[in-house]
Amino acid sequence: MTFDLDMIKALYAAMPGRIAKARKAVGKPLTLSEKILYSHLHSDQKLENFGRGKSYVDFAPDRVAMQDATAQMALLQFMSAGRPKVAVPSTVHCDHLIVAKTGAKDDLTAANNESKEVFDFLASVSNKYGIGFWKPGAGIIHQVVLENYAFPGGMMIGTDSHTVNAGGLGMVAIGVGGADAVDVMAGMAWELKFPKLIGVKLTGKLNGWTSAKDVILKVAGILTVKGGTGAIVEYFGEGATSMSCTGKGTISNMGAEIGATTSTFGYDESMSRYLVATGRADVAKLADKIKEHLTADPEVYENPEIYFDQVIEIDLSTLEPHLNGPFTPDLATPLSKLKDEAIKNGWPTKIEVGLIGSCTNSSYEDISRAASLAKQVADKGLKTKAEFTITPGSEQVRYTIERDGFINTFDRIGAKVFANACGPCIGMWNRVGADKKEKNTIVHSFNRNFQSRNDGNPNTFAFVGSPELVTALAIAGDLTFNPITDYLTNEHGEQVKLEAPTGDELPMKGFDVKDPGFQAPAKDGSKVKVSVSPTSDRLQLLAPFKAWEGTDLRGLRLLIKAKGKCTTDHISMAGKWLKYRGHLDNISNNLLIGATNYYNESINSVKNNLTGAYDEVPKVQRAYKAQGIGSIVVGDENYGEGSSREHAAMEPRHLGVRAILVKSFARIHETNLKKQGMLALTFANKADYDKIREDDVLDIIGLTNFAPEKQLELVLNHSDGSKESIMVNHTYNANQIEWFKAGSALNAMNAAKAS
Ligand code: F3S
Repeated sequence: MTFDLDMIKALYAAMPGRIAKARKAVGKPLTLSEKILYSHLHSDQKLENFGRGKSYVDFAPDRVAMQDATAQMALLQFMSAGRPKVAVPSTVHCDHLIVAKTGAKDDLTAANNESKEVFDFLASVSNKYGIGFWKPGAGIIHQVVLENYAFPGGMMIGTDSHTVNAGGLGMVAIGVGGADAVDVMAGMAWELKFPKLIGVKLTGKLNGWTSAKDVILKVAGILTVKGGTGAIVEYFGEGATSMSCTGKGTISNMGAEIGATTSTFGYDESMSRYLVATGRADVAKLADKIKEHLTADPEVYENPEIYFDQVIEIDLSTLEPHLNGPFTPDLATPLSKLKDEAIKNGWPTKIEVGLIGSCTNSSYEDISRAASLAKQVADKGLKTKAEFTITPGSEQVRYTIERDGFINTFDRIGAKVFANACGPCIGMWNRVGADKKEKNTIVHSFNRNFQSRNDGNPNTFAFVGSPELVTALAIAGDLTFNPITDYLTNEHGEQVKLEAPTGDELPMKGFDVKDPGFQAPAKDGSKVKVSVSPTSDRLQLLAPFKAWEGTDLRGLRLLIKAKGKCTTDHISMAGKWLKYRGHLDNISNNLLIGATNYYNESINSVKNNLTGAYDEVPKVQRAYKAQGIGSIVVGDENYGEGSSREHAAMEPRHLGVRAILVKSFARIHETNLKKQGMLALTFANKADYDKIREDDVLDIIGLTNFAPEKQLELVLNHSDGSKESIMVNHTYNANQIEWFKAGSALNAMNAAKAS
């Protein structure tokens, strides 16, 4: 499971020279983000001063990480790329397919039975192609990566949007779709539009109830779910260096919630301490030697306005704890206003469940600080009012917090410890009573709180906060409780106050673990057999998508005009559907079933224009496919926000949708659509969204001259015989147009290999 020290040595040896050349090309001092990006240019990429937010650049990331839900499709694609072994160190982490129900042991046994076929498949593909395999129960991908693989100045990609978590250890770590992972694992360049740069200056020092989580909750409130789109957020200042490395991980993790490409921090002592504590003192030593290259040039942080596209300043000394939500992570409410807001907005104030842990917040520091509050329950004669659960991020964290008595402390407040896995964070939570769809409130320390995400109940009001605040609110069982100012009545009728949380950044006795759950791949995997049963309902070998027919697309039907938020959860739901992530045809039965139809305001009910009847989205699309009729999906702003799951792009492609036309895209989803040979288009004039009618027949004109920065025309043939023409934009470069023409990026790659 060890990281590749030779690779890090080689990179660090090359970085000073590469950075010097980049500084010359750019003609000014460099931010940390630029240093990392320019140090990872692909060998075929010419060095120049790349336009931020404009230039497409080829990179060579150091590593790839995949979680079990997305790895299935990524590895099915990798298998069809015909390579004997992965070209860069890669890992698979089994964390998404474990349902949280009764507790870690039983839940893990159940998952190992239920998803045996998938885990066996992932283990054998990993074994064959030289990929490190982390078994179910070993931990959540991002925590395991932070503990084992992340390193300052490195660049990695991962098939999960919270791959960005590794920014806490000074990486540029980016969430991608599986097709991007396939490119890198196949030794090809990885293309990214050179990001814009947002600088966040942190002054002061965290204290009392405020934690690193509150920094990102505040930033989310400032920037909103779209504000970081296309940008790397680089944190700096005394506030950044004064906080723990895992705290930086939490902040980076939730950069995904503001749509940021990634977030990162300059190398400092907290990172060195964390590397040493996690058995990587040699990496810390290497990093120390080139530390000036693992942070920005000094001028940058002195005058950030000159070097960043946007600068935000936050004073940690005065920052309040926040609780964000419900239903969106950018609705930020400072603790002092929570009571008023809850009452004003009619949020249910009784808290049913408090959930801590997840990849976002299960560091030793988080757990120890939450435990310091749990301990006060018995000490002060209190009783915890809400249910309470913990999902540790890794077996290493779980083992260590058990050894240090924290699990015992949580036990005493009636907590349930779930498996070291995603569980409730991704809707893999068998919550008793959720099917009754009652209005209720939960608070958690995860990162996302979209409607229905955690328990499938659209009426669950989920709020995101720090593990400390979540624990305090769970103890009180009341959303209007402010632990800084309010008292609780204990079992003896006395008024008691919770003391501010305390904890240790790292375990005094060091981390420990008995079985970390890692399986190294075979040295020579050529004899390893990977079998996929043709009758399986969980796995299906992929057939290549059809190449473009060489003509404009005419006679398309409107599948759905989605109204409002349409995240990847709306396009390809998780929860019970995670089961089918390795079977494209089966999972396609969830296509857009969470999206709201503009015309009838209903979910999963669209007009079948062949019959005039309303039916479920996947059924209508299958009816069009059966007739050989293509279709279009129309969407609103930031379409596809949320996760990196490429199923959200592959499903419509598989079922015969030809284009997705929206007001704006979330970055990863737009790339995923392009990779799968789909047309990803945006309205040149956003108001044209209103011109699309439910029974339009649509033609996309201009594809025979499809070229970068050249608009396409969309003709709307209305049912009353009238016609309108609107212009649509796209962001395809020449290479991506080849993907479209070949039918997918994978088809284009295989064609290039064959020629
Ligand atoms: Fe898993 Fe939730 Fe993190 S789904 S990877 S714990 S964001």
